[in-house]
Amino acid sequence: MKSNAVVTIVACLAMAASVVRANDSIQAREQVLAPGRPMLIGVDYYPEHWPRDRWETDARLMKEAGFNTVRLAEFAWIDMEPNEGRFEFGWLDDAIEVLAKHDIYVILGTPTAVMPAWVARKYPETLRTKADGTRVVWGGRKHNCYSSGAYRMLSQRIAQAMAEHFAKTPNVIGWQIDNEFGGEACHCGSCLAEFQDWLKARYGSLDELNRAWGNHFWGLKFTTWGEITIPDYATDREWVMGNPSACLDWKRFITWQQARFQAEQAEVVRAACPEDFVTHNLMGLFSSLDYYDMAADLDFVTWDNYPIWSGKPDIPYDSSLAADVMRGLKQRNFMIMEQTAGPCGWESFGRNPWPGEIRKIAYQQLAHGSDGQIWFRWRTCTVGREQYWHGLLGHDGKPLRRYREAAQTAQEFRKLESRLRGTTVVADVAIVYDYDNLWSLSFQPGFAGNSLQAAIKRYYHALTRAGVNVDIVNRRADLSRYKLVLTPDLSIMPDETARKLDAYVKNGGVLLADCRTGVKDERNLCHERTLPGLLSPALGITIEEYTSLGSDSWYKVATSDAGSTYTAIQYADWVTPQAAKAIAGYPDQWHMKPFAAVTRNEYGKGKAWYVGMVAKEDAFYDDLTRWLLEDAGVKPVVHPPLGVEASMRQGQGRKLLFLMNHTDEPKTVAVPQGRPELLSGTKTAESLTIDRFGVAVLEL
Ligand code: GAL
Ligand code: ZN
Repeated sequence: MKSNAVVTIVACLAMAASVVRANDSIQAREQVLAPGRPMLIGVDYYPEHWPRDRWETDARLMKEAGFNTVRLAEFAWIDMEPNEGRFEFGWLDDAIEVLAKHDIYVILGTPTAVMPAWVARKYPETLRTKADGTRVVWGGRKHNCYSSGAYRMLSQRIAQAMAEHFAKTPNVIGWQIDNEFGGEACHCGSCLAEFQDWLKARYGSLDELNRAWGNHFWGLKFTTWGEITIPDYATDREWVMGNPSACLDWKRFITWQQARFQAEQAEVVRAACPEDFVTHNLMGLFSSLDYYDMAADLDFVTWDNYPIWSGKPDIPYDSSLAADVMRGLKQRNFMIMEQTAGPCGWESFGRNPWPGEIRKIAYQQLAHGSDGQIWFRWRTCTVGREQYWHGLLGHDGKPLRRYREAAQTAQEFRKLESRLRGTTVVADVAIVYDYDNLWSLSFQPGFAGNSLQAAIKRYYHALTRAGVNVDIVNRRADLSRYKLVLTPDLSIMPDETARKLDAYVKNGGVLLADCRTGVKDERNLCHERTLPGLLSPALGITIEEYTSLGSDSWYKVATSDAGSTYTAIQYADWVTPQAAKAIAGYPDQWHMKPFAAVTRNEYGKGKAWYVGMVAKEDAFYDDLTRWLLEDAGVKPVVHPPLGVEASMRQGQGRKLLFLMNHTDEPKTVAVPQGRPELLSGTKTAESLTIDRFGVAVLEL
């Protein structure tokens, strides 16, 4: 949106002053639902895959569906630079012109996720080196090394050439840098040298590095920087498995390397197109890169959502969790850059979304803060590795059921748009999410089956079942505005974080911590403290010992009044309540009788809960959630039946409650009476029946 359109934007900026004010210093460029621009809805489109005489039909069908946006060109480097330094954008100009005639905006992808064959041939060092020292064989995507000077230069140059060429194209509004950064590790000499330099900058001296990595163990001390190797974190190769502290730094380094690669392109794009947004398509719960760092340089976050794989329809709470992670990265609304449009898969494809599911999946994201929806992909490709990754249109190119459902969704979204502007999810509850912990537990889960995401999901799913919205934030976030904070599985607990959580409780917050809290510091070295370390006073407990429970053992857990019983599996802390009260214990294990399974402590103005085991039953997490919400004074607006998800967006004095039926049978929900239901245009009675895979949007 450029030149003459700027005038419109300026006028709209003034009109939408309240939106801007609500977002403080956030600029138009940093908002998906930017002032003066409609909600971006559309498809990922590959004009280079289809004959030119089809482009017009595609654009017309998109327009008829109510779409206004496409993402283009993210794999088309060879078509834009067929030989080194010779740029050909004419075909893309033509495609964009056809789309523009149908009022369709364009988001351009920089094409660096697939290097042209000539790059690999001429600059073989741009190809990633695998752990065994051999180079990847060119012929797919994500082949590159991120330290290669040639690859970085060529990438910046194509990004710059594109940005300069399309700077004046009015309907080009934004950029996606590369495609799905994936955390690939390259083991070439230049990556190793960069790692060594990165460590030098981080630790200053070898003594410090040796201390930080605990290299006195197994005599692994380095005497020169050049001796440092790339740690092997593959867990299936026991005896070569690297030092956990080294592995953690290697993961951090990979994020740093890919964030730099992203920044180099973002910089040239921004220089040429300062009004355009710059984003990247992240992958939700993907955990090989620290998404907080990757998102820092983006105007807003977009992500790729593929919740349907195989089997029967299930309740895709993980997609909500992923959405909340994405919203939390910049604590702002995000956009979907690739949305499920049909059966997915490369070798074999999964389940075809049943009627209603495509729409419902899109609403689920909208309800969690997505302000734009792009389906992947427009039409199923007849060639290549993704022949079975289905688009809205099939191979036949006809606008059939999936197209019609997306079109209905698009048109509904546009109708809701004015109500959605300036709203986001406002949660009283936060869960702390942290890549150091994700990584550390991936090298050493501690007990079998343990992972940060598994731990978070136990609580997140229960909170979702209770109808409560959750913010997912990192450990550096301001927690003071939350009534309830959960920190599952935070085994890496820097002192700074522990002090912050202690202060949070003292000042009136309600905290929940659980198994393995406070075991390690940020170097991945164990603290020399009795667990749960600095959180002992707040939690009012000590844990001198703990145990894994193998797959063949479990303990009965009962509440102190014996009212409810559950089963502890996988792990149990031997929790000794000090100031805390035991809420549940182990009545049947003579050796566990002195210990508590669940505790609650009153500390300062707040309360701190501890769960020292993994419970088998959802019912445990549902009961616990009730207790926690009661302590925190958080009241869900509705109590959805199982299978119905509730999520609320608010702002501008409005509250929009989304109810989504994830099941294929009708569900009835008790709702506040006399409120407009925006999709049907009716007013609510005391309950509302939502059809299979149906959605309701209530204005409260
Ligand atoms: C995404 C990717 C797309 C496409 C899609 C289907 O992960 O960004 O380019 O490959 O998956 O495989
Ligand atoms: Zn490399």
